Amino acid sequence: MLNVGIDTAAFYTSHYFLSSCDLAKARGVDTDKYTVGLGVNEMAVSPPDEDIITLAANAAKQVLTKTDPSKIHTVLFATESGIDQSKAAGIYVHKLLNLPKHCRIIELKQACYSGTGAIQMAAALVRQQPDKNVLVLMADIARYGLNTSGESSQGGGAIAMIISADPRLLILSPHAGYACEDVMDFWRPNYRDEALVDGKYSVEVYLKLMKECWHDYALQSGLTFEDHHYFLFHIPFPRLAEKAYQKLRITLGKGKANDEAQTALQDALCYSRTIGNCYTASLYIGLLSLLDNSKNTFENKRIGFYSYGSGCVGEFFSGIVSPDYRQALHTEFHQKLLTQRKKLDVATYEAYYQFSLPHDGSALTLPKHETGEFRLAEIKQHKRIYKPHKS
Ligand code: HMG
Repeated sequence: MLNVGIDTAAFYTSHYFLSSCDLAKARGVDTDKYTVGLGVNEMAVSPPDEDIITLAANAAKQVLTKTDPSKIHTVLFATESGIDQSKAAGIYVHKLLNLPKHCRIIELKQACYSGTGAIQMAAALVRQQPDKNVLVLMADIARYGLNTSGESSQGGGAIAMIISADPRLLILSPHAGYACEDVMDFWRPNYRDEALVDGKYSVEVYLKLMKECWHDYALQSGLTFEDHHYFLFHIPFPRLAEKAYQKLRITLGKGKANDEAQTALQDALCYSRTIGNCYTASLYIGLLSLLDNSKNTFENKRIGFYSYGSGCVGEFFSGIVSPDYRQALHTEFHQKLLTQRKKLDVATYEAYYQFSLPHDGSALTLPKHETGEFRLAEIKQHKRIYKPHKS
């Protein structure tokens, strides 16, 4: 059977961040609630001239350094921070990166789950045409509102990955277990740019659906807990991924995790502790965090993944790390990106957060911030104009 999966993947996040301690002090909350109770130390904050297009284009530009762009025949862009009701976000990225003309481009939505949906659809396309690759993009900016209970679990970023035959990073296993339910745990009506959330209920549904997805996955695949070396979970905030792992072990009667498993989970949560929730990209930033930061080697090891998107759809699936995975990583790029970031004070974070693009068609030239290789430069006649940062 043809091996299909992730050939290479890179993430990009904002140049600016807010410390959770500073936010806690400003909101009159004990700092441990955020750093211990949620496990978040810092969160990415996007300036006015950054959005899902610039975030995704920056991630994709990096990924293209390790792939042949001429093989890309489809771009799938998963997001719940869409900028247009009609036009797919991937079309802007396609142009910024000068990707091949003969390309199909689609945007996908189902909260944080749609990135996983995109990967599975991309894998099916590659199985049909193994000589072609699919570029999967996931980008979001998590916004709950100033002074809300969700504010501490905001963040933002993007991931770009190439799905191909004979992948260098992760071979996807063909079986998956999934489940859905019509619930209102988190949603964003079209007239709002901030999510509405029933926070505690969302945590409950996330954990309940995980068990249902696991049982379906175990049934479909015939795989057991012991067939997996590591597990990764969607990371709205790191403490929930820790709880999910604990819950899975308890459900399957596995007792306490050993030191290796505990360390691996912490390695997987490293990046999320400093970026916050990136919605669609979060689970896969966890994968890169594990592979970039762990001292272990992962060749031929099976990793189980739990993907969750509010509303809700969940999926459990797994993949086997390829022998040459290190060649397909972008560790140095990620580490440089994170160490070069600029810390914001709370007043600047609030100003960036409250910045609003015109809704009435009036023109605007955006102030210039550090946004990587690309930026949202202008709004003109209801259109977003993107430019390379240096122009
Ligand atoms: P909250 O009301 O701010 O906090 O809401 P809390 O009172 O629940 O406290 C949080 C934790 O901190 C608790 O731990 C406290 O005990 C602890 P727990 O008991 O749950 O283990 N705590 C402390 N620990 C140490 N020292 C202290 C202290 N004080 C309290 N002094 C909530 C938290 C996550 C609900 C809120 O931030 C929120 O609504 N976030 C957004 C929703 C969310 O992230 N949901 C996750 C599941 S849904 C999902 O994953 C999908 C999503 O990614 C969206 C999508 O699919 O598109 C969100």
